Amino acid sequence: MKLLVLGSGGREHALVWKLHESQKMDELYCAPGNAGIAQEAECRPVDLSDTKAVVELAKSLRADLTIVGPEAPLVAGIVDEFEREGLGIIGPSKAAARLEGSKIFAKEFMRRHNIPTARFEVADRYEDAIKALARFAPPVVIKADGLAAGKGVRIARNHPEAAQALEDFMVRKTLGSAGERVVMEECLRGEETSFIILTDGRGILPLVTTQDHKALLDGDQGPNTGGMGAYSDDTLLSESQHDEIIRCIVAPTLAGMEMENARYRGFLYFGLMMTVSGPMLLEYNVRLGDPEAQPILMRLRSDLGDLLVAMREGNLATVDVHWSPNPAVCVVLASKGYPANPEIDKVITGYESVEALGGVKIFHAGTRVQDHHLLTCGGRVMGVTAMAQDLPSAIQHAYAGVGKLQFEGMHYRKDIGARALARTPNIVVRQDRLPRSVRPISGK
Ligand code: AMP
Ligand code: GLY
Repeated sequence: MKLLVLGSGGREHALVWKLHESQKMDELYCAPGNAGIAQEAECRPVDLSDTKAVVELAKSLRADLTIVGPEAPLVAGIVDEFEREGLGIIGPSKAAARLEGSKIFAKEFMRRHNIPTARFEVADRYEDAIKALARFAPPVVIKADGLAAGKGVRIARNHPEAAQALEDFMVRKTLGSAGERVVMEECLRGEETSFIILTDGRGILPLVTTQDHKALLDGDQGPNTGGMGAYSDDTLLSESQHDEIIRCIVAPTLAGMEMENARYRGFLYFGLMMTVSGPMLLEYNVRLGDPEAQPILMRLRSDLGDLLVAMREGNLATVDVHWSPNPAVCVVLASKGYPANPEIDKVITGYESVEALGGVKIFHAGTRVQDHHLLTCGGRVMGVTAMAQDLPSAIQHAYAGVGKLQFEGMHYRKDIGARALARTPNIVVRQDRLPRSVRPISGK
């Protein structure tokens, strides 16, 4: 099969790395890709916001199957366009991608289908938003409705901070049209968990659970980012929490989409807060998470090509899925100035010695090659991902890899996975109960 992966981040590098070893793969392409991806797939330049150009590229490559990494092309309707042309693609339709494309749609959908989430109000005018603010005790969360590349959520500690966020989004329009309408919601407390599934519209295949580290600085300080590191470990959720998430959040979501004539197919990410009163849904992402994809795919033992083909054919239930029982950890290296104004074009050194460590892999994100030098070209530069027999060793191996890498202004968190070591682990999900096959979709 000829496979085409769309995107250029660590998530796409992890997808390419896994597909590279697939028995199903004859030719592997990535567009636009990055310097690391170019080692494992043939990269083609393309502007992912130009749907027609991407369709033409898939046609010219005669790609049998295209896998979409980031959200923007999905929200713009790339899957509908591919299907109109009879081209194979993995991802949700434009209608289904509204789960990420509009936070207002997502929250109102959760309310319609009784999916547990934070209490919220929607405002389309600044004056109304200020009035509604009085009905929330601080801290309060202000969310821009549209896609904002990780900049659309502010957790305001008090009302003046919330009013400032509303003014930025709605009056000064710092996020353009994405911030013209907002969601205001109560701030939830608990452990955050990224719960990602693959669904062919008939069944649910939960992937191993991960925890992201969204804040820029150690101790969850500083602004939110796309994610500074993630780990996957079976002690993150107990068996009963896992079951409750499927029963109260995942199944009603898929049944609800079906009911609203927008059957969901593809990866679906549930951003959860595990509160004292049970799991609550913060958000949907209509794709694999990044960096979450990196530890998840490192733990996947099955052939990803098999999974994706079965998924396209609606046969996900026929595939047996196997995971490594070992935890995996990814530490993201970012450029100075990320997330606001990352510095770029810095020379990266030390990468040759990282993979010699064994069990450690660099997934590239913002990298490019010029004159035989590896250079930074984005905010998140690479993710150093390691798998080992226990979480402390996986953390140690990932940081051993990080220690070999250097570029001017390199920034990374030093506490990825540390909270997991500090908290009492949940009772480990037994290996024979790990998600390895598909459950049917049914409502509550
Ligand atoms: P979202 O894009 O909705 O996931 O928001 C980005 C991040 O903001 C989440 O990963 C959480 O860390 C935080 N967040 C969003 N909504 C809430 C909430 N209601 N309570 C607490 N934190 C939240
Ligand atoms: N790491 C969070 C995300 O992919 O949105």
